Amino acid sequence: MKVVTAEFVISAVSPKQYPTDGLPEVALVGRSNVGKSSLINKMLNRKSLAKTSSKPGKTQTLNYFRINEQLYFVDFPGYGYAKVAKSIKSQWGKMIETYLTGRAELKLVLQLVDIRHPPTKDDVAMYEWCKQIGLPTVVVATKGDKIARGRWLQHTKVIRQELGLRGDDTIIIFSAETGQGRDELWSEIKRRLAWEEEA
Ligand code: GTP
Ligand code: MG
Repeated sequence: MKVVTAEFVISAVSPKQYPTDGLPEVALVGRSNVGKSSLINKMLNRKSLAKTSSKPGKTQTLNYFRINEQLYFVDFPGYGYAKVAKSIKSQWGKMIETYLTGRAELKLVLQLVDIRHPPTKDDVAMYEWCKQIGLPTVVVATKGDKIARGRWLQHTKVIRQELGLRGDDTIIIFSAETGQGRDELWSEIKRRLAWEEEA
């Protein structure tokens, strides 16, 4: 995928602020610190368009990035970060639930899990929930550079099993450091959005 234009559009705190141009949206969900914002930057070949941090809890709103006037990436606040106040947590919960259940433009969810660790209860709940409401979901195992290639299969097997993926469900190994999985993920996104491959 040739990314010609990539722009940050808005940090939305309420549905009134969501874009109204009807472009398809790809949402990134996953634990805090799993690498959602880093993945966006790598996919867009932009160093720090999406703000990242070694401290969990960096992204706290729905952040929209418009790509090639063709689609949006929607960066989500991470879940599973204990230090966030309960009141804020419940606000996020509502915002996320409203978005995931009601947003017609949402065409694909990228569920990110850290390749090094078995999925958490929150990961399992999120994945099951997306399946239940019928959202097409692709699982991305992040930080592939943190373990040896020879252990990838073993680790993705555990992720598959714990999340309850079926045989034909896709899991893509990604690294924001090396670019591993970038092309594969773009192909998958294009396929899911039913675009023709570019020449
Ligand atoms: P929240 O916004 O808090 O939900 O986190 P996030 O999921 O957006 O994570 P973010 O992209 O901010 O990355 C968290 C930390 O992990 C940062 O220190 C990144 O540099 C690091 N990181 C992300 N992806 C990778 C990766 O593929 N490889 C390595 N080695 N580190 C990564
Ligand atoms: Mg983030």
